Amino acid sequence: MTEVRREASGRSVAAVIPAAGSGARMGGRTPKQFRRLAPAPILLLTAGHFARHPAIGSIVVVAPATHVRRAERLLRPLARRVPVAVVPGGRERQDSVRLGLAAVPAGADVVLVHDAVRPFVTTALITAVIEAARRDGAAICALPVKETVKRVVDEYVETTVDRSALWAVQTPQAFRADLLREAHDKAHRDGFVGTDEAMLVERLGHRVRVVRGLEENIKITTPADLRKARARA
Ligand code: CTP
Ligand code: MG
Repeated sequence: MTEVRREASGRSVAAVIPAAGSGARMGGRTPKQFRRLAPAPILLLTAGHFARHPAIGSIVVVAPATHVRRAERLLRPLARRVPVAVVPGGRERQDSVRLGLAAVPAGADVVLVHDAVRPFVTTALITAVIEAARRDGAAICALPVKETVKRVVDEYVETTVDRSALWAVQTPQAFRADLLREAHDKAHRDGFVGTDEAMLVERLGHRVRVVRGLEENIKITTPADLRKARARA
């Protein structure tokens, strides 16, 4: 990938979209990111939000090794707006993001990471996370936990957790490119596996800014999620 779309300032944001999972909790033969909502496959809907965003200069989609060609074909219409690369993923989501990051153009100063299976992300949320990352180096979006949270062991309540400071984390997450690379390199060296990118940055001792996410920005995980998403699309 050589060309990168730049803002007037000369800055450029790259988006990495991990889409290399098998969708075990969803089940079925086709990985969920290739299943359709009303208008299009989930991966195309998700990637489209980034292709249309004025700050995004390049997109890297990480696909299952068996589905790279399929993803390339599917995403071809977006390439008119912005360069889109598709690379094969790894065993864990974190491996996939690391492999995607390796394909991000050197000129990108901010990298966003967003799950392929969150197709209801909005332009405004992408903008908010990019701006927070430009200011603070690392930013995530999240919502305060609404339900009572308990720690459960062997089907009995051990304790009720104080939820007043608990937030449920979404993507997109955005980082200064050098910081995200350093965080992934260190996690890889240490054999540490986190459940989001921010955890890897937190391990460096770097502060992570939290902006308010969106209720609608769900991760399509189970068949019930897919039914809800289809009702909304
Ligand atoms: N992902 C990935 N590489 C992996 C695992 C997951 O790129 N090795 C991606 C998924 O494709 C998805 C996002 O990370 O877009 C969030 O992961 P999740 O919802 O857990 O998807 P799956 O891992 O596919 O589903 P499951 O955990 O039910 O198998
Ligand atoms: Mg998974």
